[in-house]
Formats: sequence, C-alpha cells, structure tokens
Amino acid sequence: MTTVALIGSGNIGSTIARLAVGAGHQAVLSNSRDPSTLADAVAELGAQASAATSTQAAAAGDIIVVTVPVKAFTDLPAAAMAGKTVIDTCNYGPERDGHLPELDNNTLTSSELLQRYVPDAAIVKAFNNIFYRHLLSLGRPAEAADRTYLPIAGDSTRAKAAVTVFLDSLGYGVVDAGALADGWRQATGTPVWGTPYGPYSDENGQSAGADAIRAALASAVR
Ligand SMILES: NC(=O)c1ccc[n+]([C@@H]2O[C@H](COP(=O)([O-])OP(=O)(O)OC[C@H]3O[C@@H](n4cnc5c(N)ncnc54)[C@H](OP(=O)(O)O)[C@@H]3O)[C@@H](O)[C@H]2O)c1
Repeated sequence: MTTVALIGSGNIGSTIARLAVGAGHQAVLSNSRDPSTLADAVAELGAQASAATSTQAAAAGDIIVVTVPVKAFTDLPAAAMAGKTVIDTCNYGPERDGHLPELDNNTLTSSELLQRYVPDAAIVKAFNNIFYRHLLSLGRPAEAADRTYLPIAGDSTRAKAAVTVFLDSLGYGVVDAGALADGWRQATGTPVWGTPYGPYSDENGQSAGADAIRAALASAVR
C-alpha cells in the first residue's frame, strides 16, 4: 500500500486518486485552496482518501503527483517534496500558462523546469499523454492481452522503478522514454500524446501496446 499525494485534484488528479484508491492505496488530495473545498471528492472516494494542504499532502506522500497548470510550479512546497518520487503529469500550454521562453525555444522540457522548482525531488514524467477519461477506463491486469502502456521519462532509476510498480498497480505498463530531457518526445502535440489511446469523443478509449508507444516516441520530431 502506497500513500499517493495529489498536488492538484482536477481532471487528472482526481482520476489518479480514484484509480489509486481502487488499487488499495491511500490518496491525499490537495488543490490551491482550503482542503474543505475537496470534501465532496473525498467523500466520493471513501475512507482511503483524505484532503490536506499541498504541503501536508507532500509530506504524507510516498509518491507525489504534481498535476497542476505549469504556471503553478512556482507555488509547489519544495521542502516537503525533497527526496521524494514525484510524478509530473503536466503539459505546457502558453494559452493557459503564459509564454515561458525556455519552453517556447526548447531549451528545457517542462519537467526540467519543474525540477528547478523542486531541486531535491526525483521527478518522473508520466500520465501527461493520456486523456483523463481514457486513463480511467483503460487499466487492465498485467496478463491482459489488451494492456495499455504509458511512457515515463526521468533521471532517477530508483524513482522510475517506483513509478513502474505504481502504474502496474493501476493497470498500466510502462515504456521507458529516457531522461527528463527526453520528455519532449511525449509532450503536447507529439505522436504519443493522446492519439494512441483513441479520439476524445470515445470516452472508453482504445488500448495501446508497448510497441505502439515505442514507435510513437521514436517518430517524434522537434
Ligand atoms: N485533462 C487531461 O486529460 C490531462 C491529461 C494529461 C495531462 N494533463 C495535464 O495535467 C495538469 C492538470 O490537468 P487537469 O486537466 O487535471 O487540470 P484541472 O482540471 O484544471 O485541475 C488543475 C488542478 O490544479 C490545482 N492547482 C492550480 N494551481 C495550484 C497551486 N498553485 N497549488 C496547488 N494546486 C493547484 C487546481 O486547484 P484549484 O481548483 O484550487 O485551482 C486543480 O485542482 C495540466 O498541466 C494538464 O495540462 C491533463
């Protein structure tokens, strides 16, 4: 059993919390406001879920999931995240985040930017390339022929191993997409972003095996 801290509890954060609780984990939800604003979400998830401030959630989590707009990276509780495995689901969108020159000119990936704000955390980019409704529906046991795979990128072998175990418990296999600097291969608009799991109009999505994910990552250009 893992305690998963959600920093951000919107579409993706609440979906990961739901999958985590379903897999027998504890989920601590947080957002930018008072934890009482998450009372309905916690009640729906049941006794394995709770709400806290982002600092309290980060302190409690074995794994922390950062799932906020990129412009909110400046607010993260860096001290409470030090030494922890951190999953980064975030995608950069200038229309929402404002223009960030180092992301616009590809000097940094968005996960490398996140690392600047949480220098002592072991970041793994994951979940950023799948629509939250597809994430909710495509989990399958390891032995299933139609198991879906997600790319992960990070610099820490230990953190990637922890994330691999966590994703497996949620019903997903992983494809190692390399280091944080390689995270652009799964960023917004790349071949592996959204498309392998089917159109958004189909809430159920479609399974995507490891070979399809590897091929999509390999065909990315920038
Ligand atoms: N939607 C998808 O299917 C999807 C798929 C993959 C990746 N992503 C990416 O994952 C991230 C989250 O997406 P989403 O769709 O879940 O967004 P969302 O529904 O808009 O939720 C954003 C969450 O972040 C919280 N937040 C904002 N600023 C914060 C701060 N300073 N401190 C703590 N929490 C803060 C919000 O809390 P408040 O309500 O208090 O503002 C909210 O809970 C984004 O970067 C997005 O691009 C989304």
